[in-house]
Amino acid sequence: MKKSALLYVSDLPRVSELGEELLLIYDEVLPKKSAAFKKWMQQFDLHYPVKAGEQLKSVDKFPGHIARLVKLCEQTSSRHLTVVVAGGGSVGDFGGFVASVLKRGVNLVQMPSTWLAAIDSAHGGKTALNVGSAKNQIGTFYPASKIVLSRALLMAQPEARAFEGFGELLKIALISGGPLWSSLAKEFEVNASILWKHLAKAIDAKNRVVSKDPEEKSGHRHILNLGHTMGHVLEVYYQLPHGIAINYGLDFALRWSLHKRIMTQAEYQKFHRLPLAGYLLSPLRDELMGTRSAVLKDFRQLLLSDKKKTASETLRFIFLKKPGHCLVREVTVDEVLIEVCRQKEEELNG
Ligand SMILES: NC(=O)c1ccc[n+]([C@@H]2O[C@H](COP(=O)([O-])OP(=O)(O)OC[C@H]3O[C@@H](n4cnc5c(N)ncnc54)[C@H](O)[C@@H]3O)[C@@H](O)[C@H]2O)c1
Ligand SMILES: [Zn+2]
Repeated sequence: MKKSALLYVSDLPRVSELGEELLLIYDEVLPKKSAAFKKWMQQFDLHYPVKAGEQLKSVDKFPGHIARLVKLCEQTSSRHLTVVVAGGGSVGDFGGFVASVLKRGVNLVQMPSTWLAAIDSAHGGKTALNVGSAKNQIGTFYPASKIVLSRALLMAQPEARAFEGFGELLKIALISGGPLWSSLAKEFEVNASILWKHLAKAIDAKNRVVSKDPEEKSGHRHILNLGHTMGHVLEVYYQLPHGIAINYGLDFALRWSLHKRIMTQAEYQKFHRLPLAGYLLSPLRDELMGTRSAVLKDFRQLLLSDKKKTASETLRFIFLKKPGHCLVREVTVDEVLIEVCRQKEEELNG
């Protein structure tokens, strides 16, 4: 898979450096949130605003989008066209898919505008559309030629969004260990500056994992799902933002790793003594993971729809031995549910 060039800029990138004939696919909120973005985007000849969210990725809506896009680009050739995608993960997944099929594939530049996209989804080349309620069922591996990380654009987000980005940053830091983990572990709080400070190392860490298994063939890329098995369940069930759900999912994975003695008590304590670990343990958690049978039944359904499901009732769960050392184990859906109940009991008993 070709490597994407990374361009870090404090403001917005020089448009002339992005390509010859440019089509900007962008989240319609961006010009409303940032006057600088509104001015900057005037330099593009072709514009396609979209409303972010899972509906944008709906395969049912795609024929309408592509018909309008083809019309918009009718005067340009595939050789000269560059699609620049500015937005969060949903816009990135949609725009990346467009670039991969429009005129049989045109040059793609990604410019993530959310922390989740900047840390995670813009990298690794996956594009995706949803089929009904089944997420990411259609897609391509189509890495951008360039990924622009704009400090100004990312900082335009509400400060509270930093907590969403933190889930993904912590995930990749735990997976990679090394200098990213040791420098993040020294931080005392979560805010946008901390995310920006660790962004380059987080991206490098994700790219190192992706480069060993670019198209998810060997299975190595699965470790990027640390925290995501229960994270997805909680995200859907409690309608949580993805990154927040991942915080809970990571906590669940660490506690299960300890219980299974994959992680030692000493390693677990070392983690929990860190000021940052406090951000994983929100009081909200007490309301989560209820063990009423109806909840467990719904959790079971959600786990079964997990795309990493292997045989009928087993899935690959990512455990952590210590930062930098993940273990992938096949577990049954029932084992996950039993662990949900065990962790709930543990909480109730203090
Ligand atoms: N391709 C991948 O590898 C990959 C990996 C993880 C997640 N994803 C996908 O990413 C999506 C989630 O990403 P997301 O949370 O970035 O979603 P999103 O694109 O829906 O953005 C979330 C919200 O933030 C708003 N927003 C975007 N930029 C903003 C800014 N600068 N200031 C203020 N508001 C802004 C959007 O309008 C939207 O309301 C999901 O569809 C998920 O499937 C893809
Ligand atoms: Zn994620």
